[in-house]
Amino acid sequence: MNHFDYRDGALFCEGVRLADIAETVGTPAYVYSSATLERHYDVFKSAFAPREVLVAFAVKANANIAVLATLARKGAGADTVSQGEIERALKAGVPAERIVFSGVGKTEEELAFAVKARVHQINVESIAELEALSRIAASLNAAPAIAIRVNPDVGAGGHEKISTGKGDTKFGVSSAQALALYARASADKHLAAKGLAVHIGSQIRDLKPLEDAFRVMRGLAEKLRADGLSIERMDLGGGLGVPYFNEPPPPSPDDYATMVKSVFDGFDVALAFEPGRLIAANAGVLLSRVIRLQERPDKEIVVLDAAMNDLIRPAIYEAYHEIKPLSDTSNARVAYDVVGPICETGDTFTRNRQLASLKPGDLVAFMTAGAYGAVMASTYNARPLVPEVLVRGDRFEVVRQRWTLEDQLKLERIPDWG
Ligand code: LLP
Repeated sequence: MNHFDYRDGALFCEGVRLADIAETVGTPAYVYSSATLERHYDVFKSAFAPREVLVAFAVKANANIAVLATLARKGAGADTVSQGEIERALKAGVPAERIVFSGVGKTEEELAFAVKARVHQINVESIAELEALSRIAASLNAAPAIAIRVNPDVGAGGHEKISTGKGDTKFGVSSAQALALYARASADKHLAAKGLAVHIGSQIRDLKPLEDAFRVMRGLAEKLRADGLSIERMDLGGGLGVPYFNEPPPPSPDDYATMVKSVFDGFDVALAFEPGRLIAANAGVLLSRVIRLQERPDKEIVVLDAAMNDLIRPAIYEAYHEIKPLSDTSNARVAYDVVGPICETGDTFTRNRQLASLKPGDLVAFMTAGAYGAVMASTYNARPLVPEVLVRGDRFEVVRQRWTLEDQLKLERIPDWG
């Protein structure tokens, strides 16, 4: 459920007419709903009640500090994959003891930063990383809490580019290696071995692969306990899908929680999750204005002011985002190709889609754009990063300003080769 709906033909976000935001801040612009972010967090968290679980929002899905602060106030933690994301989470008010640091390519500087920041847990993805972390921790006279990220060799996820759980991807260590690594970490006085972590992919629409992966995790944890090692925590990653259009919905958080509870029935361990898309996707839209229509003998093309640099998901994953007019007062439907202004064919949001009839100047919203939208934007074609707006009730605030050309140029210089 989200808080974007039509009232008398005008699309609203909570109590704010989206056209008012477009007129005030211009287009393109991302708009997020506080109530939807909060609701999704609550629904996920309460699905596990009365069990206390850590819900660490995957910052990669939406890193705006106002979004993170909204979730932090509810008690959310943060799943991070770079020093920048850790710093954003801290700045937004996520306490270090709720921050998880994941990722295959943490640099030594980033590991040292995370150790000094005393984050809740570092998810280690290889023997080489474990050794580097042990050295760094020794030099800082620390003993960071770690989990070993297991690659359970289970495939899942909506698109090949976002599936992480098969054995041949770059993520985590095999089950056999995990046992050896965990024993090695448990014997190291500069590492506090706490548990195991797993994440098998994103936009997962079926509980079966998740359940298979979680059973592998339980089996590994049981073996480690049988060997006398302590396993206090299990980080089960993110990945649960969301509906992008009027399609059969993916499993609900309640179904997911029921499955998790059954897999870990009778096994005493602190559970953590790293949902990103589930919390943020349906909490955000990208507003755009029609620049012009190109009439062709065989089709009509709508050229928008938003482009693949603002929302890249259709270009790289063939992702489907619903496109809704901000003012929907007629029943007429027309088949359009919808494109942006960038000079490549990949800058096509959709082909031959039935939409409300559009004319130059009309406003539209790309739905379900709150996750992996603004964070994946670039300045390709010297286009500025677009503003982000947060709505709460009948108020809205610009939480990231539109870049200017000066913002882009101030980091560049022409060398004086003299
Ligand atoms: N934890 C880890 C270790 C991850 O790698 C990810 C996502 C998550 C949690 C959050 O997954 P979620 O709950 O959002 O599915 N850019 C792609 C998605 C890439 C996901 C990468 N990892 C897209 O736009 O679909």
